[in-house]
Amino acid sequence: MAPSTNKLNVGILGATGTVGQRFILLLAEHPNFTIHTLGASSSSTGKTYKEAVLGRWKQSRAVPAHVADQEMKECVAKNFAQCDVVFSGLDSGPASTVEPEFRSANLRVFSNARNYRMDPLCPLVVPLVNTSHLDLIPHQRASLSPQLNQGFIVCNANCSTTGIMPPLKALMDAFGPLDKVLVSTLQAISGAGYPGLSAFDVHDNVVPYIGSEEEKIESESKKILGSINGPKTAFDEAQCTISAACNRVPVLDGHMECVSLSFQRRPPPSVEDVKRALHDFRCEAQELGCHSAPAQAITVHEEVDRPQPRLDRDHQNGSGVNVGRVRPCPVLDIKFVVLSNNVMIGAATSSVMNAEVALAKGYLS
Ligand SMILES: NC(=O)c1ccc[n+]([C@@H]2O[C@H](COP(=O)([O-])OP(=O)(O)OC[C@H]3O[C@@H](n4cnc5c(N)ncnc54)[C@H](OP(=O)(O)O)[C@@H]3O)[C@@H](O)[C@H]2O)c1
Repeated sequence: MAPSTNKLNVGILGATGTVGQRFILLLAEHPNFTIHTLGASSSSTGKTYKEAVLGRWKQSRAVPAHVADQEMKECVAKNFAQCDVVFSGLDSGPASTVEPEFRSANLRVFSNARNYRMDPLCPLVVPLVNTSHLDLIPHQRASLSPQLNQGFIVCNANCSTTGIMPPLKALMDAFGPLDKVLVSTLQAISGAGYPGLSAFDVHDNVVPYIGSEEEKIESESKKILGSINGPKTAFDEAQCTISAACNRVPVLDGHMECVSLSFQRRPPPSVEDVKRALHDFRCEAQELGCHSAPAQAITVHEEVDRPQPRLDRDHQNGSGVNVGRVRPCPVLDIKFVVLSNNVMIGAATSSVMNAEVALAKGYLS
């Protein structure tokens, strides 16, 4: 996508949070978007951005100078009326009222919250996988109101769902439907937002429960890996069986996921065929030349002990996923490990890349 001199104004909801701070950095110097309005809770409203994040800015880069003195606004649609696009890093509580209010006001919302992910009108898009689902936007508008000629909600997936989607999609495309998928996660602390778990609970420990996380992986995956129907009015879920077991581990950023799966086809593909399919996988965001798209959607590691969160989570600025240890599974067919950066492709980068694809496909005009 060529850099544009006519950048679109964007708003960021939840701009002070873990995901919101990543939005600030991703959008501060973006070729298509310019930060226009920032919103967060009433405790931030009226402060400058740098006052609102004082003591809570957790990025290694400083707050961008042109954002630091911007005034924080209440998250109501009239304050964002000048925004062409709104990125939401809101918790599910405020998102339940704020996001539909914004949509009703004809604002285009790219949401990280869980509320509308399984809504039959809302595309649930992992930008490395199923940007074709953005084609349901006209139906969403038409179904809600004749006056809704611009507004919509597009969701990105839960961070642990997002990580495994590119390899599963690559294998489905190359070898046909999957039969069974087992995934055990080792999820970073930042996935719970700031301040997250207390040091007392997470240090020297593994917590084998993350509320609703297993259900999210099992349900969201089928929507993402499914297709949309001919008239572009409904989703058809993928038919494979997915079972997830989720664990919180003392890592700051980067979710690891150990995957075993079987294919419907017999005999199953070889390890070498699987590695090649993962390496060769390309997505629409890459084909469209989107600014945030990684050069390599799936990086396949050959070293026996990679990927690792500390070493590999920032590869390509966290915009792709890493796969390693591809090997035969004696119970199912194939097993491997996936590493994805939960706050980048698992959250903010997904929203931004979804918006870049929506722009290229004409859904932001
Ligand atoms: N962290 C991840 O890895 C990750 C990955 C994928 C998806 N998500 C999802 O992304 C969303 C944000 O997560 P997070 O980790 O960034 O959470 P967080 O660090 O707790 O940040 C929450 C943000 O929401 C704002 N907020 C809270 N209550 C509000 C209200 N009533 N009205 C307006 N704004 C309000 C906060 O503003 P104040 O600073 O003013 O309180 C803050 O900016 C959640 O829905 C989460 O499930 C997170």
